[in-house]
Amino acid sequence: ALITLRQLLDHAAEYGYGVPAFNINNMEQGLAIMEAAKAVDAPVILQASRGARSYAGDIMLRHMVQALSEMYPNIPVCMHQDHGNNEATCMTAIRHGFTSVMMDGSLEADMKTPSSYEYNVDITARVAEMAHWVGASVEGELGVLGSLETGEAGEEDGSGAVGKLTTDQLLTDPDQAVDFVTRTKCDALAIACGTSHGAYKFTRKPTGDILSMETIRAINEKLPGIHLVMHGSSSVPQELQDLINASGGDMPQTYGVPVEEIERGIKMGVRKVNIDTDCRMAMTGQFRKVAQGDPSQFDPRKFLIPAMKEMEDLCRDRFERFGTAGNA
Ligand code: G3H
Ligand code: 13P
Ligand code: ZN
Repeated sequence: ALITLRQLLDHAAEYGYGVPAFNINNMEQGLAIMEAAKAVDAPVILQASRGARSYAGDIMLRHMVQALSEMYPNIPVCMHQDHGNNEATCMTAIRHGFTSVMMDGSLEADMKTPSSYEYNVDITARVAEMAHWVGASVEGELGVLGSLETGEAGEEDGSGAVGKLTTDQLLTDPDQAVDFVTRTKCDALAIACGTSHGAYKFTRKPTGDILSMETIRAINEKLPGIHLVMHGSSSVPQELQDLINASGGDMPQTYGVPVEEIERGIKMGVRKVNIDTDCRMAMTGQFRKVAQGDPSQFDPRKFLIPAMKEMEDLCRDRFERFGTAGNA
């Protein structure tokens, strides 16, 4: 059955667990997530970016999610718009059956310029009001995701850099968060704490100076009732970097968000944990391995079956470590 983000995260808060939100673009990713959820009895957040919607098409996505929820009738599914950039993106998502939308007003509508605070409050409040009329949930974002090491934004919504960012912009201000949540009435709040999108988050295993769990603690202290969302939460596992590089890939050494830091975050009110890069690397690692190990192979299923298995194992691990398992 489809449920809203609010329903799912209220339950997660009551029982003290976090929920990974995995990005989907195609059937194989959907099946991998649902198989993992079924194996450990976990509720699911499937999220589609604007890029996913144009890749698969809204009608395909809607029927795919419907099919997945029919195939796995005991797993509650929330269908969420990742990084909605304006009212139109959010409203058309809801029209296509999404039960939750992110209105990301942390960047202006072109998704390239850091937003003014009033712009963000205004657009997020308007989307929240409209979404709530029809029973959908809303995630807002305050602060810009990016690296405290370089001041660069990484790949926010895949649209490229927004120029050098200051520490002020890269860490959500707890007092402003209180004002933002009060004025927008959003159901969940994405915060900036030093994580960024994509594989290249940190040049070393992150410590407190470049991954600010302290920011999360401080926001949670002022806003104990809000569901916090951590974007850019892929851990970029060393094994997957090694698998890709051992089979002809060329990924420079990089570091993601250690899963134990996310586990700490969950204890401090993080309820939704966004993961895309890890799933991409899991599938691509197996594509490369098959391509290299069996160069005469041309049946896509021979690539996709091990790719789905690798992604399923990864999803299952996150369900277990975030405490999502057993809560379907
Ligand atoms: O926000 C970033 C997600 O990883 C989605 O990426 O826009 O390339 O689909 P995408
Ligand atoms: P990663 O790139 O770390 O997987 O982050 C995904 C994300 O935040 C999607 O909104
Ligand atoms: Zn994100």
